[in-house]
Amino acid sequence: MKFVIKDTYEEMSRDACRIVIEVIKNKPNALICFPTGSTPIRMYELLVEANKKGEVDFSQVRVRSVDEYVGLPASHNQSYAYFLNHHLLGKVNVKPENVILLETCSKDLNDICLEYQKQIENDGGIDLYIDGVGENGHLGFNEPANEMILDYHVQGLAEETRQVNARFFNSIDEVPTTAISIGVNNILAARKSLFLANGEKKAEAWRRFKEDRNITSWFPLSFLHLAKNCYALLDKQAAKYIL
Ligand code: GLP
Repeated sequence: MKFVIKDTYEEMSRDACRIVIEVIKNKPNALICFPTGSTPIRMYELLVEANKKGEVDFSQVRVRSVDEYVGLPASHNQSYAYFLNHHLLGKVNVKPENVILLETCSKDLNDICLEYQKQIENDGGIDLYIDGVGENGHLGFNEPANEMILDYHVQGLAEETRQVNARFFNSIDEVPTTAISIGVNNILAARKSLFLANGEKKAEAWRRFKEDRNITSWFPLSFLHLAKNCYALLDKQAAKYIL
């Protein structure tokens, strides 16, 4: 893991945007998993601006999902699909046929996971994986648990994650209890991965990562000790214990 610490959220987002552009310049049809959450929002704004100015071309970029709530259709404003369309895909020149997102309402969930996993493998794997991290160290929706699942899978959500994400819904009762999430091996197999974090709320998770060199499924972030070409891009507040 290589750490890059920036003074502000803005600088962190600019660096993230620069890295995405660099990956696409090197491989115009890069297969990229983009995250949800509040952390990447500025990065998306900057990518949209860069695309408008002709500094990055999404026309061959292939986009796949990190995760998706079970039971929320793409039209639901808290679904992964809606979020990504709203912040990025609907605003850049990506081609619809290059975007394959998880749909969790149509058929058997385990079949959806198997097919999605196979498709990513057939497509040659992930070139760039970008994500935030949960305050509890979750990756995608890989929650602390007594096992980590390698491939795309159905995942029960931790109560703390539901509570943190309840701010986006009318009440906690509306927050789904289950999601489909990328597996930890998909993340580790990505040719490059980038983890963004800003603000003090994430500082404890990164302190634990840095100080504790054990890997445990009770702290999913710890699996990133095994990742090869992996960057943590943090602002000063998220990095306050590791500076
Ligand atoms: C959700 C996503 C994660 C993301 C996390 C961080 O739980 N499934 O992939 O890392 O949000 O959210 P935020 O950026 O709002 O802190």
